[in-house]
Amino acid sequence: MKSFKNKVAAITGAASGMGRTLAVELARRGCNLAISDVNDAELVKTAELASQHGVRVTVRKLDVSKRDEVYAWADEVVRDHGKVNLIFNNAGVALTAPIEHMKISDFEWIMGINFWGVVYGTQAFLPHLKASGEGHIINTSSLFGLMAVPTQGAYNASKFGVRGFTEALRMELDMEGACVSATCVHPGGIATNIANAGKVDPIMEKLTGQSVDAHKRRANKLINVTTAESAALQILEAVENNERRVLVGNDAKKLLWPSGRPGSLIGNWANWWGAGRPSPPALSSSTACRCTCGTPARARTTCPSCCCTACRPACTPTRAGRRRCRPNTASSVWIYPALA
Ligand SMILES: NC(=O)c1ccc[n+]([C@@H]2O[C@H](COP(=O)([O-])OP(=O)(O)OC[C@H]3O[C@@H](n4cnc5c(N)ncnc54)[C@H](O)[C@@H]3O)[C@@H](O)[C@H]2O)c1
Repeated sequence: MKSFKNKVAAITGAASGMGRTLAVELARRGCNLAISDVNDAELVKTAELASQHGVRVTVRKLDVSKRDEVYAWADEVVRDHGKVNLIFNNAGVALTAPIEHMKISDFEWIMGINFWGVVYGTQAFLPHLKASGEGHIINTSSLFGLMAVPTQGAYNASKFGVRGFTEALRMELDMEGACVSATCVHPGGIATNIANAGKVDPIMEKLTGQSVDAHKRRANKLINVTTAESAALQILEAVENNERRVLVGNDAKKLLWPSGRPGSLIGNWANWWGAGRPSPPALSSSTACRCTCGTPARARTTCPSCCCTACRPACTPTRAGRRRCRPNTASSVWIYPALA
């Protein structure tokens, strides 16, 4: 979609963070809006900000995990605006809990919003997008939809699910030659309210010796990489260029850059989980790190001596842009053997 002017965009989770900045930026470009969220007080503030750009904005209090509500909203948007061209399935929540102890009710809660909310939003809006003659579906996954980290198993499952669903959808739309396309969004750390609003299982206090508040403070530091305003610009550029996948923020981009080290967000997250825990069991010879310290790397990708994920945080670029291994001494570098 080359221009957003005079189009109609529906956005879920628009009361905060990237949903709000997407709404304001689209309004600035002349796009009319239908915005929704469970938090209607903050949603009205987004509507006020967007309306200043002279576009039409309608609001709906909506829980994306409620299928009937999402379908009814899609019909309502078309009734109110005459058409709809874009759906941003953006609403999402966070959960920090190790899988062994995670409450199934919490797992169902996050899947209901992050995964099923995206499925409902896609199916409810797709016929209307086709009817508009030019449409785009933008589904928000995550960097954690590309890479798993400890304590984020439920979030990982929801976001990996969004990725698979959206990539298959994009292929189907391409094969069909449809007038609708789809983009999967993978933000790295974005400074929004997600950590404050998320759930941290109280078991985390026992396992790490850190309070729930300390976990949220730590998570806020980790996501303070890219602003929500910059994220919105990157997402809209990807829609304009009809990209299949957009990595938002330098941390997310580095993950897949051939010459980059793994995203610092991932390394930090995993190291933090390892910090303060008892020493790990010795890795078996099949998974043991075979880093030969000081060996200069010749490959462009990761250091050839770094055979496991646990070693990579210790792998630093040399001045020549190559990579060199340092000893993997600190127990805090330990990550679950399963990640190695
Ligand atoms: N911030 C990050 O670092 C980051 C990284 C990767 C992916 N994401 C994803 O980006 C999306 C936007 O999150 P954000 O960072 O802007 O967070 P945010 O907390 O600032 O905004 C999320 C919005 O979703 C709304 N919401 C929550 N549950 C809802 C429900 N059941 N129905 C409707 N709305 C609901 C919230 O009220 C909030 O307004 C989410 O899908 C999130 O998982 C965020």
